[in-house]
Amino acid sequence: MITEEKKEVIKATIPVLEAHGTEITSTFYQNMFKAHPELLNIFNQTNQTVGDQPKALAMTVLAAAKHIDNLDAIVPHVVGIAHKHRALEIKPEHYPIVGKYLLEGIQEVLGDQATPEIIDAWCEYYNQIAQVFIDVEQDMYQAAAWDGFKPFIVRKKEVMTPEIVRFTVGSDNVDKAFTAGQYITVKVKPADYPYEALRHYSICSNDAEDGITFAVKREGLDDKKGVVSNYLHSGIEEGDALFLSAPAGDFKVEAEHDRLLFIAGGVGATPVMAMAEEAISKGKDVKFVYSAINEQYLPFKDQFEKLEADGADISVKYSDTDGYLNREDFTGSEDREIYICGSMPFMNTMIAELNAMGIDDSRIHFEPFGPKMSLQKV
Ligand code: HEM
Repeated sequence: MITEEKKEVIKATIPVLEAHGTEITSTFYQNMFKAHPELLNIFNQTNQTVGDQPKALAMTVLAAAKHIDNLDAIVPHVVGIAHKHRALEIKPEHYPIVGKYLLEGIQEVLGDQATPEIIDAWCEYYNQIAQVFIDVEQDMYQAAAWDGFKPFIVRKKEVMTPEIVRFTVGSDNVDKAFTAGQYITVKVKPADYPYEALRHYSICSNDAEDGITFAVKREGLDDKKGVVSNYLHSGIEEGDALFLSAPAGDFKVEAEHDRLLFIAGGVGATPVMAMAEEAISKGKDVKFVYSAINEQYLPFKDQFEKLEADGADISVKYSDTDGYLNREDFTGSEDREIYICGSMPFMNTMIAELNAMGIDDSRIHFEPFGPKMSLQKV
């Protein structure tokens, strides 16, 4: 266990980390990829480009420093991150590599301010945090529905909207191996891309009769963004194989919540659609408010219709004609437990609207399609 003296050193570095956190982690990534280019097969280069991943790691390190006297406070965050790590096949041997380049990043950015005493305290603390992740992830590897990346055959490829395609993939000897709200991780190697690329996609239906169903939104092809979604849209057809790691993620409806409000925008419907289906099948009271650009961009019409027929209260708002979702769309739902999914700006706006209605953060559960810690209040 880290000494009280070293804890004080860590605490004293919080303001410096707050000032330089993103810079340190950006430097760390650059140096690490230079020395270990093989890691470019694991890390999402789009997140690197747009800065979410450096920010996510910085926020986690900061959270860990702020809660050094009570590390239990960060455990819920560790679990969410560990799910992603397990889905990406991050192993214990990767941790010393990250530790080495993270500490070198601190040294490089802070220069003389990073005294040997500071580096020594952080080295020990990093190892302690890394061990927490390694232990949590070890349990997850043991509990996973299958090991590593396993081939699945694309049984159905359905065009939902001009942007969204729904895939149903199957494999012999895999039963329903997920809980509603979880995601699978796809590993692909597009021909014109130098690395393997991994992406998480939420499972979009609780119904697993034909296999696992997930939906992919085609991103623009500017820079590296969209390399995987375009490959899946244009390069993968029914009958092709796709490699998937086992379902992961801790976004789910808590058993004790009976009156629910689901809020989603665009492809963010995916996890909450599965969760709403599961909730309805368990007899819960479900309201689902969805934002789409217009009717042409409304995906999952078959699933929405089935949900409605099964008793869910569904409302769809088209931003082209009716504007964006706001607090007025949630009137009467003040007592419901709320689950949201959508883009980062969508999530931020929805949370602000709900907070303005007096709804506490503890009742708002969300799943952004991107690093969660870059959105987290710590
Ligand atoms: C994702 C923190 C170690 C590889 C993340 C995220 C955080 C994080 C906050 C974002 C999770 C989200 O999407 O919500 C940490 C911390 C670590 C650590 C605090 C050390 C204590 C590692 C190691 C590796 C690794 C050792 C492998 C070399 C990744 C990858 C992602 C990720 C590939 C997915 C994001 C992307 O591809 O851009 N980590 N991590 N992490 N981490 Fe770690």
